[in-house]
Amino acid sequence: MELRVAQTAFVVLVLLQSYSAYKLVCYYTSWSQYRDSFGSCFPDAIDPFLCTHIIYSFANISNNEIDTWEWNDVTLYNTLNMLKNRNPNLKTLLSVGGWNFGSQRFSKIASKTWSLRTFIKSVPPFLRTHGFDGLDLAWLYPDRRDKRYFTRLVKKMKAEFAREAQEGTRQQLLLSAAVSAGKVTIDSGYDITQISQHLDFISLMSYDFHGAWRQTTGHHSPLFRGQEDASSDRFNNADYAMSYMLRLGAPANKLVMGIPAFGRSFTLASSKTGVGAPISGPGLPGRFTKEEGILAYYEICDFLHFTTVHRLTGQQVPYATKGNQWVGYDDKESVKNKVQYLRNKQLAGIMVWALDLDDFRGAFCSGGVRFPLTTAIKEALCAA
Ligand SMILES: *[C@@H]1O[C@H](CO)[C@@H](O)[C@H](O)[C@H]1NC(C)=O
Repeated sequence: MELRVAQTAFVVLVLLQSYSAYKLVCYYTSWSQYRDSFGSCFPDAIDPFLCTHIIYSFANISNNEIDTWEWNDVTLYNTLNMLKNRNPNLKTLLSVGGWNFGSQRFSKIASKTWSLRTFIKSVPPFLRTHGFDGLDLAWLYPDRRDKRYFTRLVKKMKAEFAREAQEGTRQQLLLSAAVSAGKVTIDSGYDITQISQHLDFISLMSYDFHGAWRQTTGHHSPLFRGQEDASSDRFNNADYAMSYMLRLGAPANKLVMGIPAFGRSFTLASSKTGVGAPISGPGLPGRFTKEEGILAYYEICDFLHFTTVHRLTGQQVPYATKGNQWVGYDDKESVKNKVQYLRNKQLAGIMVWALDLDDFRGAFCSGGVRFPLTTAIKEALCAA
């Protein structure tokens, strides 16, 4: 018995060591606590050994200083950071900004020397007080005028982190950024060579390439370009975005590929059900996430009962239809292909948006396994 335990411990240790070569960066969203019943997710649901980095989203900026967003953030920060008692190698970051924060406010703060300085100075004490190991910038998205402000923000934040670490002889705080995978947004908003120098890693949001703003069905997170893609769509896949970032000067060992634990859904407008079929709008809201055009991975598992999955062989991702609903998403097979891709390119790892959209209870997908999609990613990263 004791030998078995020792052997298991040894295997786990070896797995962790070979695995630590790659990052598995996982977002947790604080608003997931408000979803109904089985959808409600708190940080104590997270397996401390699943990811190498967990990013809590989002923090606010108030009076030019970093601040909480939710009324109970401090409690949730604490719950999250307690996971490190069980896995001391786990790193946690706090993400500031997000869609609801808006780009304008970031722009206003970053464009003036004094407000930028106030913001930067406020970050290390806030992170230390609440037990985080770093900051993630979710400025969605800097535009052409903001490009140099974003670069300056990254540069100055990193310098402050270095200074703060030296002053207290502490481990330096990490700095990462979530960056759009859209070519137009990349071109206008980011000086990739410059920001790559100062960021510890860059999470490319390689999803949302297609949505209900288009007139037809299409997959939102393809790995490769599809045979049926129009030339205007040739940039809309993870392969193009990752390769483009590398060409722009992002070092492979800092580049993290985003995988969505959600699908994008559409309501079909005719009896056509393939890719490029006409749509009348976004798909119906999920039972728990309650947002049109989006389904959590665990809601998709529910959707898949009594229907068949189709695989896009070129794009290497699945979709499914039922009645007049169509959803494109990632599953255990597609994430394996994506991990293989990143291993071939020697990229830094995978980012998952978000843990609370995976089947975190193990109640919907595969026989009681918690976080089946993220676990499949982890296993693929670990594989020899
Ligand atoms: C974020 O900060 C701004 C500026 O102080 C404030 O107006 C807003 O209410 C804050 N948002 C939340 C959700 O607390």
